[in-house]
Amino acid sequence: MKTLKVNLPGREYQIDIGLNILDKQLLKVVKLNAAEHVVVVTNTTLHDLYPDFIFNVLAVSGVKVSTCVLPDGEQYKNLETLSLIFDFLMNVSANRKTLLIAFGGGVIGDMAGFAASTFVRGIPFIQVPTTLLADVDSSVGGKTAVNHPAGKNTIGSFKQPEYVCIELAFLKTLPSRELKAGYMELLKHGLIQDAEFFNFTQQHTLEPLNFDYLEEAIFRSCEIKGRVVEQDETEKGLRANLNFGHTLGHLIETHAGYGKYLHGEAVGTGMLFAAFVSWRWNELAQNEWELISSSLTQNLLPVKLLKLDYETFRNLILHDKKAQKQAVNFILLKKLGESFILPETSVEKLWDEFKLFAQKFPGMISLE
Ligand SMILES: NC(=O)c1ccc[n+]([C@@H]2O[C@H](COP(=O)([O-])OP(=O)(O)OC[C@H]3O[C@@H](n4cnc5c(N)ncnc54)[C@H](O)[C@@H]3O)[C@@H](O)[C@H]2O)c1
Ligand SMILES: [Zn+2]
Repeated sequence: MKTLKVNLPGREYQIDIGLNILDKQLLKVVKLNAAEHVVVVTNTTLHDLYPDFIFNVLAVSGVKVSTCVLPDGEQYKNLETLSLIFDFLMNVSANRKTLLIAFGGGVIGDMAGFAASTFVRGIPFIQVPTTLLADVDSSVGGKTAVNHPAGKNTIGSFKQPEYVCIELAFLKTLPSRELKAGYMELLKHGLIQDAEFFNFTQQHTLEPLNFDYLEEAIFRSCEIKGRVVEQDETEKGLRANLNFGHTLGHLIETHAGYGKYLHGEAVGTGMLFAAFVSWRWNELAQNEWELISSSLTQNLLPVKLLKLDYETFRNLILHDKKAQKQAVNFILLKKLGESFILPETSVEKLWDEFKLFAQKFPGMISLE
């Protein structure tokens, strides 16, 4: 088992990563928290795969455990489903002493986290991520949100968990497509901050699962994210680097309809685009662009989008039809392992690059 601390004054928390660690670690933390009541938020898929899992883990603790089971999918990451969590919490008479456990991928983590940050103005919560994406990214850092039909993650808050338990055994049941999508956010951390880590990932394959490799890679990925969050929790500047690939990624998710492409898939294509722009704008050297594009394309599926025109592209990127603004903060790579924020990047220029990108990578992105 590997352990990491996220040091935020007054809200520091521990992340444990390992195989078959959950039973012991979760019990310890729940006891430490002196919670009277634990509410597990999960979805139907996980509930079927691991029936009453957390309930059983906590059985010996004597703590009351209730399980709120939500429908599964990004298309349910909205205010309506969030309301189901609030209804559940009201029904079981939850209060500030209730501990919420998010048991699932990023969708569950984001929704349960948002519920925890707003229910009776805030109750403690723990992340038990079950996807690779949630292991390396969404369970760490305290961003919570639901989607609005017009924009991904537009309604949310910052709420740090009390504890994160990354149990690697859950990856055994995760479909390969999900695994590859999550891997994109892991690679992202190497690309933006740590060339040595990126090279380390290139010496390993993702499948078949190698838990020693995964433990190390997830640890290093969380460490990179944790250090960024410590310096800029609420994204005043530095943290925006973690959005590398997300400008186009969010556009793909919204334009295709939530759920059609996995978040990691959309972001992976967005990372390829951002690296392409970095190379085109003479930031990223040719050899590094080639290395990065070959690594990313190996793990990406083609994305098919409905026809896009400049207006739609702009509206989706700016989330606002009426905005006067024509520019956006765009994350570029200076080199492998170093990103930077280019403020006021013209959306029109990005559109020109996007058209070129779609021509150059017809196998990666096509417009119907
Ligand atoms: N808060 C953040 O900082 C942050 C960062 C990155 C992504 N996100 C968000 O995370 C979400 C994506 O998360 P995700 O990729 O984990 O998707 P997800 O939560 O939808 O999970 C993917 C699928 O895998 C299933 N699943 C989960 N664990 C499983 C397991 N162990 N075995 C079998 N099936 C399992 C789920 O039921 C779901 O069908 C997006 O909404 C994205 O916006 C948030
Ligand atoms: Zn992401």
